[in-house]
Amino acid sequence: METSLQTYVEELVRQKGKITFAEFMDIALYKEGMGYYQKENPFGQQGSFYTSVNASESFGRTLAKSFVYMIKTLGLENAFCEMGAGSGMLANDILNYLKAEEKEIYSALSYTIIEKSGYLINRQKELIEKEHAGKVVWKTFEELKGFSGVFYSNELVDAFPVHRVIRMNDELRELYVKETDGKLRFWPDDFSTPKLQEYLDNINLRVVETQIVDINLDLVGWVQALADKLDKAVVVTIDYGFEAPMLYQSYRRDGTVTCYYRHTQNNDFFERIGYQDITAFVDFTSLSLYGSQKGLEPLAFMPQWLYLVQSGILEEISACKTDLQKQSVKALIMPEGGFGTNFQVFIQGKGVSIDPDFRYTKSARDVLDEMGKVFSS
Ligand SMILES: C[S@@+](CC[C@H](N)C(=O)[O-])C[C@H]1O[C@@H](n2cnc3c(N)ncnc32)[C@H](O)[C@@H]1O
Repeated sequence: METSLQTYVEELVRQKGKITFAEFMDIALYKEGMGYYQKENPFGQQGSFYTSVNASESFGRTLAKSFVYMIKTLGLENAFCEMGAGSGMLANDILNYLKAEEKEIYSALSYTIIEKSGYLINRQKELIEKEHAGKVVWKTFEELKGFSGVFYSNELVDAFPVHRVIRMNDELRELYVKETDGKLRFWPDDFSTPKLQEYLDNINLRVVETQIVDINLDLVGWVQALADKLDKAVVVTIDYGFEAPMLYQSYRRDGTVTCYYRHTQNNDFFERIGYQDITAFVDFTSLSLYGSQKGLEPLAFMPQWLYLVQSGILEEISACKTDLQKQSVKALIMPEGGFGTNFQVFIQGKGVSIDPDFRYTKSARDVLDEMGKVFSS
């Protein structure tokens, strides 16, 4: 499909000779006015994919319960910061829950959103200001300083641009985007930055012949800058991905970058530029290692189903009035829904310490019996 963004990318590639895949992905998703996240309907039924937020408002309600628990047990400030807020639905669901169920927290709460897309900021404002006028402040990441409280994101890091690395003829090469025979294609060449080799060394990764691995250097810059911006805070990162040894298994030969167009997955990276989502699995090992270097310590790591069960989602299921509602909430934690198992929750902390009964250090076995009882009722 010919698009103005397609033409823009082709001209840029011709001018520069080649661009990294990370640069390509950044343009395809975020180019002002033309990128996938910079215009109408990236999410939900009319968009290209669903997130947990679209599945049920119980996702936001349950996250709200978990954040209140952390504020109370860890003695954090009554402040939330959400980065990459998409349609604004998650913030709205969280604020609705607090307004109804945690009035004291709600009345004193400071809620900040950090969002890259100007189009989405307007959409978030339209939605949130109906019920929660004046409650939310929008900031840039650079403006955030000395934050204390709960900082969180859902499917933010998977939307950061990635570099692609391949081993060919026993040498590591970066895959660039280049025009050959009149079409955009991958082109192997030397690394664009030594940071790629540092990243691979840091996680001790041996890439096998012809294997492609996707390297999220923005994750490194982000988690380190974030650590410096925190005073006493937890960082809750919810996303799909794995720890490095599992993520970079040699059977994932083609890496994990993929595209979604109207709810169908494809690997036609250079088609429908600006009209389809591009995303990659998150390497939680690097998030942990690079965070620790700056004093942001790992506190707990678990699949989403376990986090939500420990945070009270079973009560949400019990309270559902119809089977349809029940199914939507269960999709957040059941393996067939995808959200429950591929998605992980990683909690890091700066300036906080947890004791042994911190809820999120419980094992899966401890909570399975409780789940069985609710599902059989
Ligand atoms: C996959 S969407 C997830 C949206 C929402 N959290 C949800 O779960 O439905 C990724 C979101 O992160 C935003 N985003 C990506 N990179 C960002 C950055 N560097 N700073 C702020 N927002 C960013 C995108 O614009 C988009 O709103």
